[in-house]
Amino acid sequence: MITIRLDPARGAGTINRNIYGHFSEHLGRCIYDGLFVGKSSPIPNEGGIRLAAVEALKKIGVPVLRWPGGCFADTYHWQDGIGPEKDRPRIVNTTWGGVAEDNSFGTHEFLDLCEKIGCEPYFNVNMGSGTVREMTEWMEYVNSDTDSTLVQRRRANGREEPWKVKYWCIGNEPWGGGGNMRPEYYADEYRRYQTYCPPYGGTKPCRIACGPNAGDLKWTEVLMERAGKFMDAMTVHYYTVPGTWEKKGSAVRFTVEEYYRTLKKALEMDRIVTAHDEIMTRFDKDKRVGLIVDEWGAWYDVEEGTNPAFLYQQNTMRDAMIAALTLNIFNAHCDRVVMANLAQMVNVLQSLLLTKGSEVVLTATYHVFDLYRAHQDARHIACEADAPLIGPGEWTLPQVSASASEKDGIVTVTAANVSADSPAQILLTGVEAKTVAVRVLSGAMDAHNDFASSPLHIEPLAAEITGGGVSITLPPCAVAQITLKN
Ligand code: AHR
Repeated sequence: MITIRLDPARGAGTINRNIYGHFSEHLGRCIYDGLFVGKSSPIPNEGGIRLAAVEALKKIGVPVLRWPGGCFADTYHWQDGIGPEKDRPRIVNTTWGGVAEDNSFGTHEFLDLCEKIGCEPYFNVNMGSGTVREMTEWMEYVNSDTDSTLVQRRRANGREEPWKVKYWCIGNEPWGGGGNMRPEYYADEYRRYQTYCPPYGGTKPCRIACGPNAGDLKWTEVLMERAGKFMDAMTVHYYTVPGTWEKKGSAVRFTVEEYYRTLKKALEMDRIVTAHDEIMTRFDKDKRVGLIVDEWGAWYDVEEGTNPAFLYQQNTMRDAMIAALTLNIFNAHCDRVVMANLAQMVNVLQSLLLTKGSEVVLTATYHVFDLYRAHQDARHIACEADAPLIGPGEWTLPQVSASASEKDGIVTVTAANVSADSPAQILLTGVEAKTVAVRVLSGAMDAHNDFASSPLHIEPLAAEITGGGVSITLPPCAVAQITLKN
């Protein structure tokens, strides 16, 4: 029996809904052929936006969406993507496969997508090959309510009211593809850029600085020391790669050893967030500056037969486990982590949706976001699972990971049984409950939804309220949402 103990008197604060955010880049088939099928497509769309995707994304309450990259952001010039489609320049997407980019999906289309989904837009500014002026003019174009020439252009392009875009990140991975900068140099450049972020139309931009790659603590230290007081948030990127960057491993064919190794690597997120939080706290003890994990997820070898630059991969129960473990970590750090963006929303890396023609598949990861939705804006409740360590050799991890929160008197516990082959008998203690409802996603570690068949979906699971707590038996390789009402 594994006990999950809830302590409603303790918690890390409010779980920012933006922790359940996503990322969409002009990469492979994420935008084109994914979210955006074009206005003349026979696939049901509105303004070119795939309606089936909008419907699925609304269902899981996507709170925020980052765009247009990633690496692509550092070659993107936003003025290429406004005005009549026929007049928009065709450029080469030099980062992702050297394919032609016709700019038919631009600022208006992205913000229309966000409005349809009901989420906040998050813009990534081009610092690598752009200018301060470009950034400021983008802010003016989308947020100002004056009759400046740029605003007149926006109106002529069909949008009367400002969009009030709040989130602006200055650069992307400046330590790598975004300029190969030293932290000292980026800190200075960041300070210059953020100086020119006026509150057009009354919308005060949330100024986001590019933080480190994974565990690079020096980057955080230099940036916080030199620019901490000029930022509202700082990012960090971490991907779970089962093997090496050269040979990452297959998304669907993997051994049990690889399964546990991948999950153990996903748990690194806890160490990374904890370490950066500690450094940030040295410069910002009140935790005014948020940490945004704006790229995370599993990165495997691309699916055979697909364009290697398009980063298309399948999504199994192993990915569901990565999502569950990672989201539990973010919840536990909600006093510092204010946003996270899974990479990426459709057809790229650990996606929510896969598309082929008019067909849309909901991945295992999609269902985890459905199960975790109730944590958005809820009060975090401390919880501990006394689970045994499982897994081979050095790849051991606790069998059960859990997270809890409360909103409107309803307590939600999300729990993952990571064992590939053993059920987990769980006793939940610490809260009174008159009713309990459990929804679960489970399957073999390599089970996945595909265009031929979709065996993975959420099902109800039995639970019992006893004198000692709530008793549930999770199947092997399962993620559950447990809802308790008093
Ligand atoms: O998500 C794919 C790429 O990974 C992004 O473009 C980049 O920021 C990161 O290296």
